[in-house]
Amino acid sequence: MKQTELVGVQKTLSPVLKAKALDNRLPDPILGDEHAERVMRLLDPGYDQRRFGTSQLGLAAVVRTKAHDDWARSFLAGHPDAVVLHLGCGLDARVYRIDPPATVDWYDLDYPAVIELRRRLLPEREHYTLIGSSVTDLTWLERIPRGRPVLMIAEGLVPYLTETDARRLLTSVVDAFPTGQIQIDTVPVWAWRTSKWDPTLRKYGTRFNCGFNDPAALAGWHPRLEYVDETPMYDSPVLMAKAPANVRRMHRLMLLLPGMRRSTRIVRFRF
Ligand SMILES: C[S@@+](CC[C@H](N)C(=O)[O-])C[C@H]1O[C@@H](n2cnc3c(N)ncnc32)[C@H](O)[C@@H]1O
Repeated sequence: MKQTELVGVQKTLSPVLKAKALDNRLPDPILGDEHAERVMRLLDPGYDQRRFGTSQLGLAAVVRTKAHDDWARSFLAGHPDAVVLHLGCGLDARVYRIDPPATVDWYDLDYPAVIELRRRLLPEREHYTLIGSSVTDLTWLERIPRGRPVLMIAEGLVPYLTETDARRLLTSVVDAFPTGQIQIDTVPVWAWRTSKWDPTLRKYGTRFNCGFNDPAALAGWHPRLEYVDETPMYDSPVLMAKAPANVRRMHRLMLLLPGMRRSTRIVRFRF
């Protein structure tokens, strides 16, 4: 299946999908996502045949996915009538991993080309809707039922938005629902500023468009928004417990560099 249909930032779904596919091959995976392995094989049958093809160096991305899953599960356990907005979903199989009850309505949103690819690769299910749109064109929000708790998950998305668009997105979601939880991840200002030289982002023809040194301060964007907490990624105990020795060594070295420990911040808000 050709990946050339995806352009620019849409291609960033591929390294995270590969990380999840490879995690599933560990004897004791962090995420254990069989969909990721199957979809990665369909998308790029030789993905593990090339140099570094089976390297687990991207495993930290899987820690981020697991963290978002764990937060989502605990929110849905307390709000079985929730609406889920999974924004910038890529080819992530979160709805199948979490498998919410039929009382939850789940929306996966990404650019039309990504959603088209999803339709070909992942099964449909009840109470599950795909929306092909830029997240910044907020007319998609008019399609979502109101008056219910909302869970907004944006994994690996916010750094690609401008601060103005990120702010409009968060405040519009808070304005549209009575209560909810917002889970995002952000990068610091230095990572945003240097992203135009980041080899991976350059390869995909994209870059970050915003960064925050104190993501908790985003709660100040809306009077009803409240910062809850942050969960570790590069220095997470699960990564150190489950990653192969070479990956643990690389992360230990990486953590010696100033700023790397918090080069991605996974944060949660409520309102
Ligand atoms: C790094 S990938 C993460 C994908 C997925 N969340 C995951 O963790 O596997 C970023 C995703 O955000 C999507 N994206 C970036 N900007 C977007 C926008 N303005 N509207 C909709 N999707 C966007 C990309 O198409 C891509 O699928």
